[in-house]
Amino acid sequence: MTSEQILARVAGLSESLSNETEKPRYRRLKDGFTRAIERGELRGGEMLPSSRALADQLGISRNTVNRAYRELAVEGFVEPIERVGYVVNDGLGEADAGGRYRDGPAALSPVRWDERLGALVGGDDERPRPAGWRSYPYPFVVGPGPEGFPIGSWTRAMRTALREEHRGTSLHNLDDRDDPLLVEQIRRTILPARGIRATPDQILVTLGTQHGLHLVAEALLGSGTTVGVEDPGYPDARRIFLKQEAKLVPLPVDVHGVTAPEGLSGMDMVFVTPGRQFPTNVTMTIGRRRRLLAQAARDGALVVEDDYDSEYCYSRRPPPALKSLDTAGRVVYVGSFSKFLAPGLRLGFVVADPVLIDYLRRLRHDMLRHPPGIIQRTTALMMEVGDYGRVIRRHRRVLRSKWQAITEAVDDLFPWPVQSTDGGMSLWVAGPEDLDAACLAESALEGGVVIEPGRSCFLGPDRPAHYFQLGFAVIEREEIRPGIECLARFL
Ligand SMILES: Cc1ncc(COP(=O)(O)O)c(C=O)c1O
Repeated sequence: MTSEQILARVAGLSESLSNETEKPRYRRLKDGFTRAIERGELRGGEMLPSSRALADQLGISRNTVNRAYRELAVEGFVEPIERVGYVVNDGLGEADAGGRYRDGPAALSPVRWDERLGALVGGDDERPRPAGWRSYPYPFVVGPGPEGFPIGSWTRAMRTALREEHRGTSLHNLDDRDDPLLVEQIRRTILPARGIRATPDQILVTLGTQHGLHLVAEALLGSGTTVGVEDPGYPDARRIFLKQEAKLVPLPVDVHGVTAPEGLSGMDMVFVTPGRQFPTNVTMTIGRRRRLLAQAARDGALVVEDDYDSEYCYSRRPPPALKSLDTAGRVVYVGSFSKFLAPGLRLGFVVADPVLIDYLRRLRHDMLRHPPGIIQRTTALMMEVGDYGRVIRRHRRVLRSKWQAITEAVDDLFPWPVQSTDGGMSLWVAGPEDLDAACLAESALEGGVVIEPGRSCFLGPDRPAHYFQLGFAVIEREEIRPGIECLARFL
């Protein structure tokens, strides 16, 4: 093909040279050819013009053309033929508007992803919060807000974590190991506050509770196994267990926490949130805890304790974890940094018998080796200078004040009483039985209020629809009362 023909056929080739000024010329020329090949303006088997002819035609140097051709060859768009020139490769085809090739070999057998992918467990669960909830003026969404994140102290710790003496942990491959400094901080700072004593080989660092639960479920569950779960309870945990094909048995919850049936026989595992039951926020009484452990020991069930935000207790000291009463190593304790630092850091840990921890470590290795060393070391260094206690105290102060504001607001403004609890980051509201919380959530959006319907927290076909959650950690304190006033108009 002559250079004139090329220029006539390849739309925009010469324009591509004059358009952008930042890219080098050879790159612009190469991109012009790439686009032409993708659009099908140049087809497999066609020769590119000689570099001399094209350079003359375009008024650029031959070197520029040669360099562009070489790059095209490196990327596989053309192939050099000795002493002849460059030929466009076959099978690159014509790309559609989305950049996908229409007539290349791949188009002959497009992948039917829907046929290959099985149905997602719980894939039809309603999503409790709307996309874009951040832009609403009154976001009563459940979960911690990033506002209290200790940016200064995190930045200092991360800078230290990059120093020579820390790089072995921060930047190197740790295989299946964890940062020993973080394990030590978990052991010496977090666990004693929860009444737990553990040796380093009883601790595994995870990418948060979800990850910890996934590992535990993969290790211990399968088809034919049964898990007792709180009802209402944590939907994410339920989905994780169902994914392993475990059968779920609902365990009712009252103001004293979960009520285990007389016997746990037939249950391989019981999953509980005793510190702060999700979603009701009640704390399991000591009597219930002892009873659950005794039943589990008698019937051979394991207990998985998700202790995700028990630090946020506003009128008394939080009771010690269930794990602290566990003398038989029956409790698998799952902890998270999401509520202490930020959920976006994805950091948590599991405390359990060393044999199980070793097994989980191997599973984790095949999945992701280890949580990022730099995040582990930075967190450990922050904790080492005493920031764990400082940050928790600050969060607790802010959250207590928001909790007081929301409790007073719902007491004053809601037409029905709301059961109060002494901690957490949300209220669990039971409306009258004919309330449809999903409809309420939808109409409240018109007033700029985001609430989370609680139906997905329940198990079984007849899930009550009149409950909802009001998170108060993310919303600004000053917005709480106006937000509740606004919501009350929709009730
Ligand atoms: C019941 C429960 N457990 C654990 C977590 C924390 O999960 P993660 O550590 O994966 O962020 C949450 C967060 O919302 C939760 O509601």
